[in-house]
Amino acid sequence: MTLPSDLKDRFPLLSQIINGHQIVYLDSAASSQKPDSVIDAMNKYYRTINANVHRGAYEIAAQATEEMEQARKRIASFIGCTSSNEIVFTKNATESFNLIARSWGGNNLSQGDAVLISDMEHHANIVPWQILSAEKGFEIRWLPLTPEGLLDLSHLDRLLDGVKMVSITAMSNVLGTLNPVAEIAERAHSAGALVAVDGSQYVPHLPTDVQELNADLLCFTGHKMCGPTGIGVLWGREEILDSMPPFLGGGEMILDVRRDGFTPNELPHKFEAGTPPIAEIIGLGAAVDFLSSLGMDNIRHHEVTLTDYALRSLKDRYGEELVIHGPTDPSQRGGVLSLQYSDIHPHDLSQVLDQQGICIRAGHHCAKPLMRELGVGATSRASFYLYNTEADVDALVDSLELAGELFSV
Ligand code: ALA
Repeated sequence: MTLPSDLKDRFPLLSQIINGHQIVYLDSAASSQKPDSVIDAMNKYYRTINANVHRGAYEIAAQATEEMEQARKRIASFIGCTSSNEIVFTKNATESFNLIARSWGGNNLSQGDAVLISDMEHHANIVPWQILSAEKGFEIRWLPLTPEGLLDLSHLDRLLDGVKMVSITAMSNVLGTLNPVAEIAERAHSAGALVAVDGSQYVPHLPTDVQELNADLLCFTGHKMCGPTGIGVLWGREEILDSMPPFLGGGEMILDVRRDGFTPNELPHKFEAGTPPIAEIIGLGAAVDFLSSLGMDNIRHHEVTLTDYALRSLKDRYGEELVIHGPTDPSQRGGVLSLQYSDIHPHDLSQVLDQQGICIRAGHHCAKPLMRELGVGATSRASFYLYNTEADVDALVDSLELAGELFSV
């Protein structure tokens, strides 16, 4: 049930000294650190089998293709999907959402239709719909939040009337809120809508089974789950992906090209124009091997325990002086703590913490509509992952006191 106590040793960056202090990395919601096994897998590809895939008839090209397609199968299995045809590689979750909006939305949405999103969405799940809505004239509806930062489902059935797509996050990158995706999906399906899920903050931290989520499409990104940057995933039910037109055009996504047109390739290649990020896909394959070897249940258990410890420690020390946005029950949230401490500006707070070697994020977290609902311009955000410890939380708690002293004069 517990994670190995020496996990930090497997992440080379976590041994760094920053500003004279051992680094305390509390920004995994923005990007996680990478274990040796991921870095080594990518190095091995470049050092031993670097060649393009699905093209060459020589040994290293065949090996590169095999490594990449094996990684696709392991990533599929990591999210409970049985057909690797349903795993489309993109650049990141943002590109996955743009693919859905442009390809599915472009084909299915017009004036009189609606898309339902929520007040806690990341810009990646807002702006692609807004761009398309400006062209097609469909309505974007917003699911509101309760004062505690949960989705308010009390008017869901009314809001679903006329909706063709519900596109929501499984876990907020600001509030940490875990959303009842399966329940929302059941009600959305009864109303005739499809469901797309932003799994960017969920897939790295909780066991994920797309059948249990009951969703139709799922977007996530590699760099928040111990994998490299530049690689994202779109999972979709095969019949839905099959019905969607290509997103980007070029090599690899075609079966045939003639003067009078082209024939798209089979899934998943239909959506993978150009040379794919081969090393990154292999790196993401190594990342899911690493996470699976630790056990996603164990990772979730570790983070719930750590979040509970952090919430209690921060409240005990700072009481009303510290606002922590989002649910107070650790079982309803992930390890993302958005803070407002006294009247210290989030950017000032993050700079003081940086002097202690502590990395947190300050800003709007690409969730400006949510910031407006919270009535703030920005927050300071500490986020945990499998390598964080109670000592990291203690460092955060102590450093706030230092910031308080500095700004009280
Ligand atoms: N979406 C990422 C975050 O929340 C970058 O920090």
